[in-house]
Amino acid sequence: METKSATSVERSQQLFDRAKELFPGGVNSPVRAFKSVGGTPLFMKKGNGSSIWDEDGNEYTDFCCSWGPLILGHNHPNVYQKIVETLQNGASFGTPTQLENELGELILSKNPFIDKIRFVSSGTEAVMSAIRLARGYTGRDKIVKFEGCYHGHCDSLLVKAGSGLATLGTSSSEGVPESFANETIVLPLNDNEALHNCLNEHAKEIACIIIEPIPANNGLLLQELDFLKELRKQCTAHGILLFFDEVISGFRVAFAGAAEYYQIQPDLVTYGKIIGGGLPVGAYGASKEIMGHVAPEGGVYQAGTLSGNPVAMAAGIAQLSECAKDGFYEDQEARTKAFIEPINHYAKEKGYDFEMVQIGSIFWLNFDGKKTIRAAAQINPDMNKFKILFHSLLQKGVYLGPSGYEVGFVSQAHTPEILEKAGKKIMQALDEVYAAI
Ligand SMILES: Cc1ncc(COP(=O)(O)O)c(C=O)c1O
Repeated sequence: METKSATSVERSQQLFDRAKELFPGGVNSPVRAFKSVGGTPLFMKKGNGSSIWDEDGNEYTDFCCSWGPLILGHNHPNVYQKIVETLQNGASFGTPTQLENELGELILSKNPFIDKIRFVSSGTEAVMSAIRLARGYTGRDKIVKFEGCYHGHCDSLLVKAGSGLATLGTSSSEGVPESFANETIVLPLNDNEALHNCLNEHAKEIACIIIEPIPANNGLLLQELDFLKELRKQCTAHGILLFFDEVISGFRVAFAGAAEYYQIQPDLVTYGKIIGGGLPVGAYGASKEIMGHVAPEGGVYQAGTLSGNPVAMAAGIAQLSECAKDGFYEDQEARTKAFIEPINHYAKEKGYDFEMVQIGSIFWLNFDGKKTIRAAAQINPDMNKFKILFHSLLQKGVYLGPSGYEVGFVSQAHTPEILEKAGKKIMQALDEVYAAI
């Protein structure tokens, strides 16, 4: 494909104008609309390796990676091959297939934290189903979530903190009844005191505590290991299920996700994104005993017309087979560190209040660099610097997720050379940011 300089977005603009007549806000998922950075959302046409090309022919080094699923980069030859091979036999049967067994075996053979898994079609669906399972298993109704963690758009999790600590939640979206929101308690992250206060009052009513063990939807709010261990301890003490939502961290920081990275045993886990190799797959898993409560074995109902879809299973098998190879995660982390360290060094030398926070191959651009931020309330809500950086990087041919709260992802296709080039562009863009403010 011919590559033009990243200035003209005429075709994207035309497509967006048309899309606005077709879809609410012109998009099929809100953050794609560029609301928080302004400008025209770019309509992508093609991806290969670490690059994507928009409809105007501009090339970008992609750090969004479809919001995380593409850990091997775009159009990995093995994933492509396996999808095409499988599709030749038909797209869907609505019956069990051998491919579901293959993906299930691949995952469970390398994941000591769960005995059984159920495939669904998105992260939201996985979380929604696992919450029902937690309630069905424990016979309790309330759930605890943390402020700043995102778990998809199911009703009981579109909830923000009410007034005061450990109070019942209030809905954060129109259309979510307050009576649903009241079943969710919202706590600040990394805060043992708030946790203990909540448990003192509500422990016997709580089915599960759900957390992104690596919170990566509202900045990258790395938790202290002691806090995660305390969660484990308190859940065990009170008969509450510890629910790790690993839709981002699963297969990203280690094959078995944050549970493996931190060596903490959750009771319930959800996966999404990477598990489907770029196609729509989610999953939830737990011990044999807990999963025995899912229909048709048990009484917690959950089903899906396209669950375990063969083409999506095939993509997942091809991608996870690469992730399962020796040294895959060590290499991902080493390349990501080598990318980030010179940028942080540069920012420090220049006196910029900026730091790239990193874990595994996830990073976040923190424009409050002097602080270690572990809870949502600590994030500076002024995203103006990010906005300038974002557009400067687009001009230079680097694509980030279009919001300062979003994290970036490094894929296997981001070679050290590509990362070094992108790193230099980020340093130049930082100069522009700090010259402009
Ligand atoms: C931690 C977490 N859970 C759940 C979801 C929802 O997944 P999906 O967008 O596939 O419904 C997301 C999506 O970003 C997520 O990051």
